[in-house]
Amino acid sequence: MAILITGGAGYIGSHTMVELLEAGRELVVVDNFLNSKPESLERVKKITGKNFKFYEVDLLDYDALDKVFCENDIDSCIHFAGLKAVGESCAKPLLYYHNNITGTLNLCEIMQKHGAKRIVFSSSATVYGKPASVPITEDFPLSTTNPYGETKLMIERILKDLHAADNEWSVSVLRYFNPIGAHKSGLIGEDPQGIPNNLLPYITQVASGKRECLSVFGNDYNTPDGTGVRDYIHVVDLAKAHLKAIERAETVTGIEYFNVGTGIGYSVLDIVHAYEKATGIKINYKIVDRRPGDIDECYANPEKAYNVLGWRAENNIEDMCRDSYNWQLKNPNGYGD
Ligand code: NAD
Ligand code: UD1
Repeated sequence: MAILITGGAGYIGSHTMVELLEAGRELVVVDNFLNSKPESLERVKKITGKNFKFYEVDLLDYDALDKVFCENDIDSCIHFAGLKAVGESCAKPLLYYHNNITGTLNLCEIMQKHGAKRIVFSSSATVYGKPASVPITEDFPLSTTNPYGETKLMIERILKDLHAADNEWSVSVLRYFNPIGAHKSGLIGEDPQGIPNNLLPYITQVASGKRECLSVFGNDYNTPDGTGVRDYIHVVDLAKAHLKAIERAETVTGIEYFNVGTGIGYSVLDIVHAYEKATGIKINYKIVDRRPGDIDECYANPEKAYNVLGWRAENNIEDMCRDSYNWQLKNPNGYGD
């Protein structure tokens, strides 16, 4: 039986594929390369020496997706495919709602039709909105401030209702905190297009000389040094959480929610200093205004993932910075054209 990976060519999907292939799992992968390149899949093969079936399919194309299920024995799915840029989601809400929600509805309907009722879904800490306190546990109230976050909340809701209607479903909702870093080989990593929105890709491009200076968005937050605090997690640790989640989904039915973070909050300046320490490179930065919508602090209580899945993050912040830089050094233009 195979696991369907949607969005496998993307940043987190490609790292998860490596862990699953190395664990001997059979994979069928779909992606439409909306935000990724075929080369990442070639790199996954190179790292693992293993193969998998790939379909260039858009989740919005119901018939094409249905055909993937007709041609393969798929019993579960790890669902990464979706658009993920917060700013873009505010400018193009219909694109985000249609792609993320309709894509997921098609997927779930087809899975149900083929009797594949196990799904691990990529949610985000963004569903906690502006948390009243930290660390965040899974039972915190949910809210969000942008269309991207709304799609995550709506999909969580859809999956909840799906399980309520048919309790043969096994649903694992993984709420990622801030994934960074890259595989130790330097063969796969994050490949943002244009100017990076997120902190680590930006710092990495400053370190490599591609950008002049990091803008630190505000130093008047209610945090120890005034800059925003987040829970950064190595993408390989995050990938390993998916293996644990799918193993659990194979043994129980139900719907479960897990924070996937380290439980440690680092400020923007902590990250700058960790990056300098890990790479020996000075990171130029300047303090600028706050970025609208940003919150003071966001970090997980990851105990449930440890207690239930037996998963815990292993890499520290210097590992994350070093591996980001290694990927950048080996791939100055990402996966290229
Ligand atoms: P990514 O953009 O690198 O990967 C997503 C993949 O999905 C891409 O390869 C893209 O081409 C594909 N895709 C998008 N729409 C598709 C469609 N309609 N049909 C087929 N393929 C489609 O993103 P990522 O960082 O790997 O994130 C994976 C998932 O995790 C996303 O759902 C994202 O929202 C979620 N997430 C990411 C982060 C993060 O910081 N990276 C944090 C929390 C949650
Ligand atoms: C962002 C997304 C969030 C998503 C998460 C996953 C936004 C508003 N939120 O969260 O939905 O789930 O990524 O990784 O995009 N910073 C700078 N300078 C920069 C970039 C960032 O100072 O050039 C600061 C930010 O103000 C923040 C921290 O670095 O305090 C982390 O920012 P970022 O990497 O964008 O992640 P989040 O905002 O936490």
